[in-house]
Amino acid sequence: MTIENQKDIDGVLNAGRVVANVRDAMLAAIEPGMTTAELDELGAELLARAGARSAPRLAYDFPGATCISVNEEAAHGIPGGRVIRAGDIVNVDVSAELDGYFADTGGTIVVPPVTASKARLCHATQLALRNALAEATAGAPINRIGKAIQQTAKSHGFKVIRNLAGHGVGRSLHEEPTDIVGYFDRRDTRRLRAGQVIAIEPFLSTRSTYVVEAEDGWTLVGEPGNLSAQYEHTVIVTNGAPIIATLSESRG
Ligand code: CO
Ligand code: CO
Repeated sequence: MTIENQKDIDGVLNAGRVVANVRDAMLAAIEPGMTTAELDELGAELLARAGARSAPRLAYDFPGATCISVNEEAAHGIPGGRVIRAGDIVNVDVSAELDGYFADTGGTIVVPPVTASKARLCHATQLALRNALAEATAGAPINRIGKAIQQTAKSHGFKVIRNLAGHGVGRSLHEEPTDIVGYFDRRDTRRLRAGQVIAIEPFLSTRSTYVVEAEDGWTLVGEPGNLSAQYEHTVIVTNGAPIIATLSESRG
């Protein structure tokens, strides 16, 4: 969507605050021995308490309130009986609708013990998001976002998952501009406009450049042994730095 008035700004920021808080609460609650269904239950409860509705459930009839993806799973993991274990890389993606506005966010943690290579994957992906956000200004070519993500991945020795991408958001979960990819696409001539609401979400991985749908019809997985990380913010594009709707309240 494109912001038209103060009500739109407040709507996106309010939805953003809710999903950011749920993301942080879920990431903080992760413990070995817990199932992903138990973790999702916490997310569902917090969304309900905030008066928000799970966006993937609303938009796609997703069988869970949030997406929880572990290790070789990169995205859209269905919460269920999978037990979270020490050393797992866990991604939580929370998107929701509140008062007609949608926001989308995600984060990744390593369940201790944290190895240097897993920490590095998370660090590089966070940096990729930060570098991508620095390119998200009105008038800038959209493909600079992918360029920043790709360069950051490469300089850390990681791959980018090419068939997972950021997107417009705000009035629905996924809208124009679609396919804000994580690599430099020279054929993409689109430019960002002031007031656009977009979700930027780099996916970096140790091996895989593509993910495929698992037999459950939802989970997107890399090759066996692949590890990936994703961080996602919903932002409002301005003539300067973007307004980040999904920052952590604790860390600002
Ligand atoms: Co998301
Ligand atoms: Co998204």
